[in-house]
Amino acid sequence: MTRRVIAPYRRPMPHSAILNVMIKAAYRAGRSLKRDLGEVENLQVSLKGPRNFVTAADRKAEAIVREELAKARPHYGFLGEEGGAHAGADKSHRWIVDPLDGTTNFLHGIPHFAVSIALERNGAIVAGLTYNPANDELFVAERGKGAFLNDRRIRVAARKRLDEAVVACGLPHYGRGDLERARAEIAAAQQHYAGLRRFGAATLDLAWIAAGRFDAYWERDLSPWDMAAGIILVREAGGFVSDLDGGENIMAKSQIAAGNDTMHQELIRLLREAGKEPARQRAL
Ligand code: IPD
Ligand code: CA
Ligand code: CA
Repeated sequence: MTRRVIAPYRRPMPHSAILNVMIKAAYRAGRSLKRDLGEVENLQVSLKGPRNFVTAADRKAEAIVREELAKARPHYGFLGEEGGAHAGADKSHRWIVDPLDGTTNFLHGIPHFAVSIALERNGAIVAGLTYNPANDELFVAERGKGAFLNDRRIRVAARKRLDEAVVACGLPHYGRGDLERARAEIAAAQQHYAGLRRFGAATLDLAWIAAGRFDAYWERDLSPWDMAAGIILVREAGGFVSDLDGGENIMAKSQIAAGNDTMHQELIRLLREAGKEPARQRAL
């Protein structure tokens, strides 16, 4: 007798209509990026390399997201990394989109990148999504409704000890940013945390905080599309986000710190202390 194998039934999470629109857009753009990743892998060995191809893949993904979102909400404004800002007739709503976060990873065939979409209403982020098409992980959150990874409720990690914490950060690269300050901050983090990571996709760093994988995260010199979806993901997962002084001016200062209550506070304290270090070095 042959036994019928029944796949475990996973009850899909009922999402709001708006989140379904965002998911559809992210899946379509994700399929396009996944196809293009295959070509990127082929191009690694060519002399020209995949750079131009990746630029085109990035723009194509944004066009797909924009088209899908506009089909459902034609009057909303749109801010995308590639195409910039487009005002909509509806002034109270705006999409904030990074069609490909983790471009450098994508360019090198590293499967850690994402499509990220956030919805802003009257200046506040009310929904966010980050989707990694390479491993099919979809992180979503809506204000007041919690955060989810592929339909499973997620929460920030409960860890409180810094010597057990795995922490993500950004690094100044390509001649940008304040290297001296970054070195002082990294040195301080190395002294206190169990592990420090730089994975190269800010939207996923924040989503991974929401999922309890990372305990804390900080980065400077980010853009709104790098942070918008992640902010609501972390908050809806019970975590905290702020600028690096602990304030609300994340977008204006282009910087973010995230974690559970303790990890977030400790990170800000640690960075403040580290900030005094370069000044002390200069004074010597
Ligand atoms: C970048 C990634 C990276 C961060 C950079 C961002 P992009 O976005 O999020 O992790 O360190 O500062 O610009 O260029 O890959 O969309
Ligand atoms: Ca980005
Ligand atoms: Ca991008």
